[in-house]
Amino acid sequence: MWKLCRFLLFMVSFRVGQVSGADKYSRHDFPPGFVFGAGTSAYQVEGAAEEDGRTPSIFDTYAHSGITRGANGDVACDQYHKYKEDVQLMAEMGLEAYRFSISWSRLIPNGRGQVNPKGLQYYNNLINELISHGIEPHVTLHHSDHPQALEDEYGGWISRRVVRDFTAYADVCFREFGDRVRHWTTFNEANVFVQVGYDYGLMPPQRCSSPFGILDCQKGNSSTEPYLAAHNILLGHASAARLYQKKYRHKQKGYVGLNLLGFHFTPFTNTTEDIVATQRANDFYHGWFADPLIYGDYPETMKKIVGSRLPSFDQIESRLVKGSADFLAINFYFAEKVKDSPQSLEIQPKDYKADIAVELDFSVINTTQFEYPVNPWALQGILEYFKQKYGNPPMYIHENGQRMQRNSSLEDWPRVKCLQGYIGAVLDSLRNGSDVRGYFTWSLLDVFELLDGYNSGFGLYYVDLDDPDLKRCPKLSARWYSHFLKGGSQGPGSGSLIEQLQDNSSSVSPDHGLIH
Ligand SMILES: *[C@@H]1O[C@H](CO)[C@@H](O)[C@H](O)[C@H]1NC(C)=O
Ligand SMILES: *[C@@H]1O[C@H](CO)[C@@H](O)[C@H](O)[C@H]1NC(C)=O
Ligand SMILES: *[C@@H]1O[C@H](CO)[C@@H](O)[C@H](O)[C@H]1NC(C)=O
Ligand SMILES: *[C@@H]1O[C@H](CO)[C@@H](O)[C@H](O)[C@H]1NC(C)=O
Ligand SMILES: *[C@@H]1O[C@H](CO)[C@@H](O)[C@H](O)[C@H]1NC(C)=O
Ligand SMILES: *[C@@H]1O[C@H](CO)[C@@H](O)[C@H](O)[C@H]1NC(C)=O
Repeated sequence: MWKLCRFLLFMVSFRVGQVSGADKYSRHDFPPGFVFGAGTSAYQVEGAAEEDGRTPSIFDTYAHSGITRGANGDVACDQYHKYKEDVQLMAEMGLEAYRFSISWSRLIPNGRGQVNPKGLQYYNNLINELISHGIEPHVTLHHSDHPQALEDEYGGWISRRVVRDFTAYADVCFREFGDRVRHWTTFNEANVFVQVGYDYGLMPPQRCSSPFGILDCQKGNSSTEPYLAAHNILLGHASAARLYQKKYRHKQKGYVGLNLLGFHFTPFTNTTEDIVATQRANDFYHGWFADPLIYGDYPETMKKIVGSRLPSFDQIESRLVKGSADFLAINFYFAEKVKDSPQSLEIQPKDYKADIAVELDFSVINTTQFEYPVNPWALQGILEYFKQKYGNPPMYIHENGQRMQRNSSLEDWPRVKCLQGYIGAVLDSLRNGSDVRGYFTWSLLDVFELLDGYNSGFGLYYVDLDDPDLKRCPKLSARWYSHFLKGGSQGPGSGSLIEQLQDNSSSVSPDHGLIH
């Protein structure tokens, strides 16, 4: 298998061609403070699930429930043991920042109380290794993985008790790592976590109630729990962020933000119904978290539709939450057309999905199809939406990338096309006044994926799961990104890496580059 990496041959099957977004640019066109990176998350990359005192998180439980094609993250990419090698890859690529998450149950195995010295040591090692290579750590505290112990004890995010435990966990992280980490994200994809985890029951912690669950519902309440969990997440975020401001900011000078999956919604038709439905979708998907963080309360539409099932903020809570995010981060993968769904009005009782009363076409995440359509204008659109609706807050693109069948090819042209298009779109947004501070691609490596296990991959590096050493192999996208990070021009007529590869394509051997 080691030979495979050397056989990274470039047979060009199609031209990357013109994509919308700034079509010719280089790293130098971005402001100096702007950061480019790549990401992973703890359970998806670390492995060593039962090692050195770590206990299961809800992500472990989910992955062992058989949903992810029988695969799990027990070993994943084994970054727990291979972090030095991975940081070396990042450094060679010219990566400026690495976005990773801390496993709460590795650091504090019972969820609260005793800190695990081995867990502490691991994250100190990783952070020090990054810093010594000039790579900024951007750290997420919760990436679908609170300790199973807390889920068992009081139901995790559906209980108010989690706010105190999460804040204490954040306190440990700020205290132990905050001298080197300046960018903290409390929650990854808070909106999807609550919707898919507490209404559909399809992701951790797999709670839902009949008839709403996509799978069998063992426990949960789809009518109420998505709202309850979201409320406690907002309070948990705010409580951790306020603690940071009071206790650490003056010394550590860092930032605390929250991450959402961002959609770019456009109406399916130009009827008033679909236009109103699109506003509703924006309120339910983005406003649910962004409105409280920026304005101190839920969107009016949500209060009206959800009624007493939507928890309310009292004055103290509202002041705690409002202004508690130093930045908003979005993960962006696809655009969505929104169609009004008046039949939802008939449904009784209601769940979150029936409350929104829209139809979205999620066939883009159809796993047999793999690749997402690339729409750079849509990323520009959502950045513009946040700029106008929320007063141009500092924003990060925390995830963006292309899914492909994991074992398809190291010549991942669709991913190169995706990076080139979306990074161009970010530049267009910057030039039009958006306060975007950074762009991270998902993912550094082919990790254990939430719905797909090891069937699909988003990585710049392929990880050979048949090799006991889990060898990493750079894909074409790793070379493209590296060339860009080191100042190379991109786009048509730029003499870019892509163009050179295209020009050279006639001279390379006709190996198809498939991974066997
Ligand atoms: C969900 O909670 C609501 C409010 O407490 C209750 O009326 C409803 O019966 C619960 N549904 C289920 C399935 O437990
Ligand atoms: C809606 O109207 C806008 C502006 O006239 C137009 O650009 C767009 O294509 C229309 N969309 C649909 C789905 O008809
Ligand atoms: C998924 O994609 C395949 C291949 O393009 C297609 O045949 C199938 O109908 C799609 N399924 C859904 C649910 O859209
Ligand atoms: C650029 O910004 C202005 C002001 O916010 C806005 O009206 C316009 O639609 C933006 N252009 C694009 C392409 O987003
Ligand atoms: C393209 O071919 C030229 C001449 O053989 C070589 O110098 C150059 O490095 C090649 N470019 C790439 C990106 O492989
Ligand atoms: C990739 O994996 C799929 C299923 O995991 C398999 O059907 C396919 O043959 C594999 N392709 C290659 C090129 O190995």
